[in-house]
Amino acid sequence: MILITTAGQVGSAAAQLLAHRAEPVRVLVRDLGKATALAQAGVEVAEGDLAIPATIDVAMQGVSAVVLVSPAIPAQELNVVGSAVRAGAGHVVKITSKASADSPIARRRDQTEIENGLIASGLGYTLLRNNAYMQNFLMLAPAIAKTSSFGSVAGDGRVGLIDARDVAAVAAEIAVSPASHAGKTYWLTGPERLSYSDAAAVLSKVLGRPITFHPLTFEEERQAMIDAGVPETIAEMNAQALSLFARGDSDWIADDVPSLLGRPARTFEQFATDHAAAFS
Ligand SMILES: NC(=O)c1ccc[n+]([C@@H]2O[C@H](COP(=O)([O-])OP(=O)(O)OC[C@H]3O[C@@H](n4cnc5c(N)ncnc54)[C@H](OP(=O)(O)O)[C@@H]3O)[C@@H](O)[C@H]2O)c1
Repeated sequence: MILITTAGQVGSAAAQLLAHRAEPVRVLVRDLGKATALAQAGVEVAEGDLAIPATIDVAMQGVSAVVLVSPAIPAQELNVVGSAVRAGAGHVVKITSKASADSPIARRRDQTEIENGLIASGLGYTLLRNNAYMQNFLMLAPAIAKTSSFGSVAGDGRVGLIDARDVAAVAAEIAVSPASHAGKTYWLTGPERLSYSDAAAVLSKVLGRPITFHPLTFEEERQAMIDAGVPETIAEMNAQALSLFARGDSDWIADDVPSLLGRPARTFEQFATDHAAAFS
């Protein structure tokens, strides 16, 4: 049995892929009502909360591998690591980012704390250090649909954007056969490095109307996210990450996705085509 710790964009896609392959898969969710589509797809759904270890212990029963994905609050993800140790789950595939202990972004320091706790646990582990998700553009979709324009503090910085569905596919693949991936770190990206102006050009092509990009200041970016309902601390970290884009921090690609999946990583054009309705 493979346990996926949340049903967000990566967790849901990984669960669907595993269910499609007829692999036993369980997903932990806080709200069963949000998981009806997964249950219908053959995913076992366990009600729980990563802040409550006893609920993780129930979901961990009979589990051989875990896909550890969540908003990456250290205490919560380390609860999962502790539960996996108690249950003798063999392997944890950890979804992470460009983690570093001295990052200016708290979320990346938190990821390092979790990675270190996992490595010290004695469990088998694989780290998936992912570049920024294409799905972040879905937050801009209402503005793009309304104004055919979007802004960011990302400036001219290029980003090796990855489709979260490819992150899910890699996580699922490793969770099914973890042995050869134990102790490894993979750097997951899409196939190309795109600036936000490049992304606007792709969206223009796919949507058949001109989409324009305009630069924002840090404060405008932070406020736009807060206005869109993002909690203030998260908006601050997201705006910090986007300002680092402008300085080339995410200007990297790697070939781990094609090597692990035996097919190319999805392009931004594929992502935009699949989500065209959201931008229209
Ligand atoms: N976005 C990016 O560009 C990017 C890039 C690199 C790495 N990452 C990493 O990807 C991870 C996030 O993955 P994602 O995008 O799949 O997440 P997501 O779509 O934001 O979903 C988060 C999920 O966690 C659930 N959740 C939150 N707190 C919970 C709790 N206490 N107990 C149980 N479930 C809980 C939420 O459920 P509810 O519906 O109940 O709230 C939601 O389903 C993070 O580690 C992040 O650092 C992201």
